[in-house]
Amino acid sequence: MTDFTGQVAFVTGGGAGIGLAVVEAFAAAGAKVVVADIDEKAGQAAADAVVAKGGEAIFVRCDVSDQASVNAAFDATIATFGRVDCAVNNAGIDPEIYPEAKWGIDLFDKIHRVNVRGVALCMEREIAEMLKQGGGAIVNMGSFASLAGIVNKPYYVASKHAVLGITKSAALQYASKGIRINLVAPGAVDTQILKDNIGQMTGDYKPQGGQPGAGRVSQPSEQAHAVLFLCDPKSSFIVGHALSVDGGIAAR
Ligand SMILES: NC(=O)c1ccc[n+]([C@@H]2O[C@H](COP(=O)([O-])OP(=O)(O)OC[C@H]3O[C@@H](n4cnc5c(N)ncnc54)[C@H](O)[C@@H]3O)[C@@H](O)[C@H]2O)c1
Repeated sequence: MTDFTGQVAFVTGGGAGIGLAVVEAFAAAGAKVVVADIDEKAGQAAADAVVAKGGEAIFVRCDVSDQASVNAAFDATIATFGRVDCAVNNAGIDPEIYPEAKWGIDLFDKIHRVNVRGVALCMEREIAEMLKQGGGAIVNMGSFASLAGIVNKPYYVASKHAVLGITKSAALQYASKGIRINLVAPGAVDTQILKDNIGQMTGDYKPQGGQPGAGRVSQPSEQAHAVLFLCDPKSSFIVGHALSVDGGIAAR
């Protein structure tokens, strides 16, 4: 395992699911961790758990879709730890839970506010801090939906394609400045989002039975491993990459 001692990791959506596993993995690897989440109870509990094990962590309440909230979260991070070495833009929502796709623009806005605007707002601050420091690593949480369509999820899929586009373009822009920007593209992960969705999934996308490749749901820790791999300074020539962690479904 890479030693992240002395590094500061900022994780959005760090209170639950994949984000919580990323928080735990960074803390186990010696990093100081900022848990940024809209859910105060879950976020505080995640930070408290790190501290209880002897690590360093703070919780900052952050709604990634709100610029003032994002700025306050980064101000608190810099005031406490002075820098951001690794930033994981993981917070996301997936509310298209219907038997058929709904094409209401309010739903489009709701999803894009968190999944796309949220990533953009955080990246603006992360890149600004990393330029001052002379480098850093950013990992955006994409999805299999960054790479392919999913029936009944047009707006979620659009949002995750957008996250891949931001990732690639920003990666090209900032690689020469020492900022590496990459994306993890999970398949099904055993979290609340999946539990909310599982009933509507069909065919190849249904995570149990009939799914190609590994034919199972992943654990959040398997996604966290990929995030830390991309943040690892030894991954120094990995830039603008979409790393599928999906048991093989994107390999079809
Ligand atoms: N679970 C899966 O199968 C799966 C698959 C592919 C991609 N993803 C992506 O992984 C990421 C994490 O998903 P998860 O499965 O861990 O979900 P989750 O629901 O278990 O956790 C999401 C976390 O994000 C927080 N959050 C939600 N809206 C927020 C906001 N506006 N500001 C700050 N925090 C907010 C929640 O409070 C929660 O702690 C998402 O971007 C999701 O799209 C998940």
